[in-house]
Amino acid sequence: MMKTINRRDFLKQAGLGMVGAGTILTLPGRLSGALRTLPASTAEGEHFSFIHFTDTHVQTELNGHLGMRKAVEKMNQIGAAFAIHGGDIVFDVFETDRRRADFLYRLYRDELAHLKPQTYHVIGNHDVFGISPKSGVRKSDPEYGKRMFMDYLGEGRTYRSFDYGRWHFILLDSIDITSDRSYRGLIDYEQFEWLKADLQETGKDRPIVIVTHIPLITLFWQIVDARRTPIPPGVAIVNAKKVWELIEPYNVRAVLQGHLHIREKLEYNGVQYITSGAVCGNWWKGPRMGHPEGFAVIEVRGDELTWRYETYGWKAAVTESDAPGH
Ligand SMILES: [Fe+2]
Repeated sequence: MMKTINRRDFLKQAGLGMVGAGTILTLPGRLSGALRTLPASTAEGEHFSFIHFTDTHVQTELNGHLGMRKAVEKMNQIGAAFAIHGGDIVFDVFETDRRRADFLYRLYRDELAHLKPQTYHVIGNHDVFGISPKSGVRKSDPEYGKRMFMDYLGEGRTYRSFDYGRWHFILLDSIDITSDRSYRGLIDYEQFEWLKADLQETGKDRPIVIVTHIPLITLFWQIVDARRTPIPPGVAIVNAKKVWELIEPYNVRAVLQGHLHIREKLEYNGVQYITSGAVCGNWWKGPRMGHPEGFAVIEVRGDELTWRYETYGWKAAVTESDAPGH
């Protein structure tokens, strides 16, 4: 596995902690394009594990930051090669002012500094700054929208890819900001074209993992409200069929998902669609619909992967009913 010591040192000097250490430093500002590590050795690539942790929703309320600290302690025991955060990192910057938003991103970064595996980040709907009119944030704010995520954790991007051994990892940006200052799940045209090119470059033999915050394929809505069709645009990616048709010819082994705070594992045509619960459970108010606070560990052997969910012993100070939400 390539180690980019210079980047790690750069981050430390810049006070950024170990965010994404091991990746190549690029200048921010270019939204599309693959960000790649050099391939690991074949032996390393054939048997390794990585962590998919999602929906930390870090905050000091309800001791959320202490919950993340406890999760990090457990994650450090896994021996994972790296970790991927599946989005909804903070709670939240969608409808808060600049001061609170900076506080939350820094709070997360402070806790992340204790996580040993290098960490990649996927953007979630709660990580997009100032979108809600309730925030009072102007669109002219230089950190407005996705820029804040890009600058704090995205290394200048909201979607990208990297390699680990033979395996190829694609981190998608599933958040589309709508004209009414809300959001929906979508892979937009520019990203779709980038994804097409990235897949072509990867080829049809190499195993691929795709990570998205808002699920591509889920049965969640059938569970909570089967009367409503179609699935609301905030629950799953609205152009999922188009994306599925694009990825289907490739050797995609898993699509890792977040957003719903439930554990779910579906398989269709050899692709596993996995939703990895939530570190925060029911937004730090206990388990969510019976799904406890935790994270996923993915074991890779050859071209196969297996998924398991690890809890970390968090006891919420207060619990609340399981009203559906996301
Ligand atoms: Fe979430």
